[in-house]
Amino acid sequence: MPRSSPVFVHVPYDDIEAIKAAATPNTVAVMVEPVQGEGGVCVPSSDYLPALRKLCDDRGWLLILDEIQTGNGRTGKYFAYQHFGILPDVVTTAKGLGNGVPIGACLARGQAATIFQPGNHGSTFGGNPLACSAALAVVKTITEQNLPEQASRLGARMLNGFRTALADVHGIVDIRGSGLMIGIQLNKDCPELVEKAKQVGLLINVTAGSTIRLLPPLIISDDQADEIVSTLVELIKSHQAE
Ligand SMILES: Cc1ncc(COP(=O)(O)O)c(C=O)c1O
Repeated sequence: MPRSSPVFVHVPYDDIEAIKAAATPNTVAVMVEPVQGEGGVCVPSSDYLPALRKLCDDRGWLLILDEIQTGNGRTGKYFAYQHFGILPDVVTTAKGLGNGVPIGACLARGQAATIFQPGNHGSTFGGNPLACSAALAVVKTITEQNLPEQASRLGARMLNGFRTALADVHGIVDIRGSGLMIGIQLNKDCPELVEKAKQVGLLINVTAGSTIRLLPPLIISDDQADEIVSTLVELIKSHQAE
């Protein structure tokens, strides 16, 4: 069948009306991150995913969630969609799933689970026993050690620490997050902070130009979480004073 429109149409995040406006009779699915990572750690309003679930049900579309970054305990639940009381049709996940071993997974339920059959989507190393064993051990460890709960507790501790310590610092646009996925948005670009942080032993990332993104390991201690906050606060203060 000839394609007359792009495969993916991009719309603004956290905006259900934008999806309705972009829909065509050929629309079959909506794919979205439950919390945007690279986009700047954007946590949607609490009614966005439930409204999207309803829209997809009403229109007969699949709801596909990209949990590559948010899955496996990162946001304080095993999957981020669990914060919103909905079930997606398809979920992709990777990163934390292998805890360093390269593996990604695509999960589906209901009708969506009947589409791919074994062998339909082959790949040289897909489903290899070594990576799958590593992922199984990771899932078991995350579940048995209740690491999502730990991420939730430590994330709240860090958010609170940043909000308190940066309350009087000028140019802090927002401090937001979900579990151990934290974003601090400044009023100016700050890519140089990545190197400055490295020099004091901290690995951070800057996304969308001016948002410092933190994705610390789920197994850090309270003391380490506090150390991340105090070290980064000093860096931010001197950056904003320049
Ligand atoms: C939310 C999200 N989706 C997709 C990807 C791409 O994943 P992969 O590199 O496994 O293809 C990334 C990688 O950073 C991501 O953060």
